[in-house]
Amino acid sequence: MKVLVVGGGGREHALCWKLAQSPLLTKLWCAPGNAGIADVAECVPVGTEDIPALVEFARDHGVELVVAGPEAPLTLGLADACRAAGIPCFGPSQQAAALEGSKTFTKQVADAAGAPTAAWARFEDADAARAYIRAQGAPIVVKADGLAAGKGVVVAATVEEAEAAIAEIMEDRVHGSAGASVVIEECLIGEEASFFALCDGTVALPLAAAQDHKRVGDGDTGPNTGGMGAYSPAPAFTPAIEAEVMERIINPCLAEMAARGTPFTGVLFAGLMLTAQGPKLIEFNVRFGDPECQTLMLRLHSDLLPLLLAAAQGSLAGHHAEWRDDHAMVVVMATRGYPGAYAKGSRINGLDAAAAIPDAFVFHAGTVAGEDGAVLASGGRVLGVSARAATLAEARTTAYAAVAAIDWPEGFCRQDIGWRAL
Ligand code: AMP
Ligand code: GLY
Repeated sequence: MKVLVVGGGGREHALCWKLAQSPLLTKLWCAPGNAGIADVAECVPVGTEDIPALVEFARDHGVELVVAGPEAPLTLGLADACRAAGIPCFGPSQQAAALEGSKTFTKQVADAAGAPTAAWARFEDADAARAYIRAQGAPIVVKADGLAAGKGVVVAATVEEAEAAIAEIMEDRVHGSAGASVVIEECLIGEEASFFALCDGTVALPLAAAQDHKRVGDGDTGPNTGGMGAYSPAPAFTPAIEAEVMERIINPCLAEMAARGTPFTGVLFAGLMLTAQGPKLIEFNVRFGDPECQTLMLRLHSDLLPLLLAAAQGSLAGHHAEWRDDHAMVVVMATRGYPGAYAKGSRINGLDAAAAIPDAFVFHAGTVAGEDGAVLASGGRVLGVSARAATLAEARTTAYAAVAAIDWPEGFCRQDIGWRAL
């Protein structure tokens, strides 16, 4: 089977690495890929948001499955365009991808499905929003309603802080048009976990949970990032909680999407808060998490290709995902300055030494090959230095040994990935 993966980050490296092990695979391309992905797939110089060029490539090369990594091509209609061309696509339609783009839409779907989430209200008027905040009291959560690159959420400890967030988001428009309306939510207390389920429109297949570290600094301090590290399984996410999440959140929301005429295909990423009252939905994403995906791919025992194909073709019923009895951890190495401004083009040495450590894996997130074959940093998050082992503590030891083998003075990483679980 010929497969095209769309994307060029650590998530896509992990997906390509896993797909490349499938006995069913005959050819693997990745658009645009990166210097690490080039080891397991042929990289194609097409951007992730150039939908016509992606579909044209797939058609011209007889691609039998397109796998969308990031959300951007999905929100631009990649899956719809593939399906119109008769090519199965792993990923939701543009309409179903709204589960990631609009917080209000997700809340409406969850409420209609009876799925537990934080109590919420939406406001287009700043004074009305402030009055609501004063009536509810703190702590309280204020969110820009549109896409704000993960930065539009303020968990306010006081009413003053929440009111200041309203001024910034709605009046100063620090996130632009994403702040035309806000969603104000009850503050959920508990441990967070990311849970992933494959969906074929009507049937959902549970995968696994992971926990990530969104803040840039040790001890979960500093600004939010795309994710500085992750581990799986998530000890707090017990089998009983998984069953509850499937029954009360994933399955009802999937049914609600189908009933609306926008069935969801692909991977549903539920951001959850494990509260004293049970798991509650914080948000949905319509793709694998990055870097959570790296840990899932290391733990997945089953062949990934038939699972993704079955999801894309509506035939997931009867499929099952088997997992290694292992723990996996990924430590993200980023360019100094991230998530603020950073320089590109610094040279990374020691990658072979890191990968030679038993059970260590280096996934590339933002790299390009230099003219002399050197690997150069080309992004904020650059490497996902990963390991799998019988215990989380051993996985951490191996992952950080691999970090130590990498010679990249311009890079940094958190030193405490997994600290809550360890
Ligand atoms: P979101 O962009 O909706 O995932 O929110 C980003 C982060 O804000 C989440 O990962 C949580 O840590 C936090 N957060 C969002 N909504 C809530 C809530 N209702 N209660 C507590 N924390 C929240
Ligand atoms: N690591 C969080 C995300 O992919 O959204």
